[in-house]
Amino acid sequence: MLPLYSSTDANLFSIGQGNNYPMDALEALHYRRSYPRLDGPVPSDKILQNIYKAAIRAADHALLKPWRFLVVQGESRNRLGDLFVEAARADDAYIDEAKIAKLRSKPLRAPLLLVSISSQQEHLKVPPIEQDLSAAAATQNMLTAAYAQGIGAIWRTGSMAYHPSVEKGLGLRNDEKIIGFIYIGNIRGSEKKLLDTNPNDYFQDW
Ligand SMILES: Cc1cc2nc3c(=O)[nH]c(=O)nc-3n(C[C@H](O)[C@H](O)[C@H](O)COP(=O)(O)O)c2cc1C
Repeated sequence: MLPLYSSTDANLFSIGQGNNYPMDALEALHYRRSYPRLDGPVPSDKILQNIYKAAIRAADHALLKPWRFLVVQGESRNRLGDLFVEAARADDAYIDEAKIAKLRSKPLRAPLLLVSISSQQEHLKVPPIEQDLSAAAATQNMLTAAYAQGIGAIWRTGSMAYHPSVEKGLGLRNDEKIIGFIYIGNIRGSEKKLLDTNPNDYFQDW
């Protein structure tokens, strides 16, 4: 199905500024975008529950539910920042203080973060890659559910997402990995314009 609106039309949408939420599902799917600049407060429990509910509706081979999510808010964000610093210091004992300060403050860029984790389970028909894909689909569902409710979100990774000391500090088991840090909050700043990409460029008859 072709989009209902062109991306130029989408730029007229003014999320978080008086639109009616939740928005239509196709509108959310067509126009979701990342929001790097986020403010408090933590979204309401109702909004968060809608986001969580969207996560667990991801496609999931053999219904393994190969995911779990850590909710990091308030003071826990500082603990996560400390973990990042510990990991960076383990790699480079002489890392400079400016880099340390930047790392420490990363989790403070939103009032709430979800650590999206792929939890591998042994299964004859479902290889690990499929379980990662399911956890990633759950993660994308959360971004879309946030957008549909006028809430900003961005999926972030970077070296800290793959660092053994961060994994250990967050309590991951050996069969788990971080899919991403999802930063969630109120949208700050102006709306990013979507690229004018033609979906049909990515579909060919075969
Ligand atoms: C696996 C993954 C990792 C990402 N990591 C980062 C990141 O570390 N920092 C960041 O700013 N954005 C990150 N993003 C978000 C992308 O930069 C973003 O989706 C892209 O710029 C397109 O923008 P849009 O989401 O608004 O369409 C990540 C996205 C994915 C899927």
